[in-house]
Amino acid sequence: MRLRRDRVIEIKTPEQLARMREAGLVVARTLRVLTEAVRPGISTADLDAIAEREIRLAGAVPSFLGYLGYPATICTSVNEEIVHGIPSEKRRLHPGDVISIDCGAIVDGWHGDAAVSVGVGEIDPADQQLLDACETALWRGIAEAEPGGRLGDISHAVQESVRASGDYGLIREYTGHGIGTAMHMEPAVPNHGPAGRGPLLRAGMALAIEPMITRGESRTAELADGWTVVTADGSRAAHFEHTVAITPDGPWVLTLLAPATLGAGKDAR
Ligand code: MF3
Ligand code: CO
Repeated sequence: MRLRRDRVIEIKTPEQLARMREAGLVVARTLRVLTEAVRPGISTADLDAIAEREIRLAGAVPSFLGYLGYPATICTSVNEEIVHGIPSEKRRLHPGDVISIDCGAIVDGWHGDAAVSVGVGEIDPADQQLLDACETALWRGIAEAEPGGRLGDISHAVQESVRASGDYGLIREYTGHGIGTAMHMEPAVPNHGPAGRGPLLRAGMALAIEPMITRGESRTAELADGWTVVTADGSRAAHFEHTVAITPDGPWVLTLLAPATLGAGKDAR
């Protein structure tokens, strides 16, 4: 008998990736609506209601709702909250806050998962730099999602990008993940580690890549609600995520809006 050394990573056909693109677009459109709704005075529960409406209007299903008992459609993580913040009517956004919004949807059994961090009103330039550093790191990681590469190439690119951007804490206790017929699948996608190691990247794999960084230390703590992850030192955090398919032509960012619709939001008004 031949022993399997690696846990299996799901390989999708091009047709299946096209279904995942549908789910990714629902997530992308929902996040665009949400980022346009972010303003001083709105509650994170208001944002959650908007997200559930958008996802269901698209004929999709919110993937977070009920996942391991999670009580909402999106995660809303404000300021020192890193990920998995629970929307609440009591949490109203204030000018200068930074909010990370994480959203997942299912279409025909296929998952999409993405997150974005945005400022509320005018924010501290250092907070904007934090957001920019995190988003840049995500894109550096995405660029490595090519057939023939190794998972560690993605992790290493994220880590080196964060390092090059400044003195940020890089979260190690939470990772990205494989995604497809479930939200969380093999492999875990760390945001640090050596290049050239780990599973071989093959066309048909799909990964959720999601760096989380802080303006301070990298240690985390979990709040008593059993979900919300905060920075141990109270420093502000950012989180960006895309669902990315590995194709023969390179990375396909399934949760990115099509170019024709990009900028049709704020700038077009
Ligand atoms: N999107 C998160 C992730 O990337 C998952 C949210 S946890 C949930 O892993 F419980 F809210 F679903
Ligand atoms: Co994810």
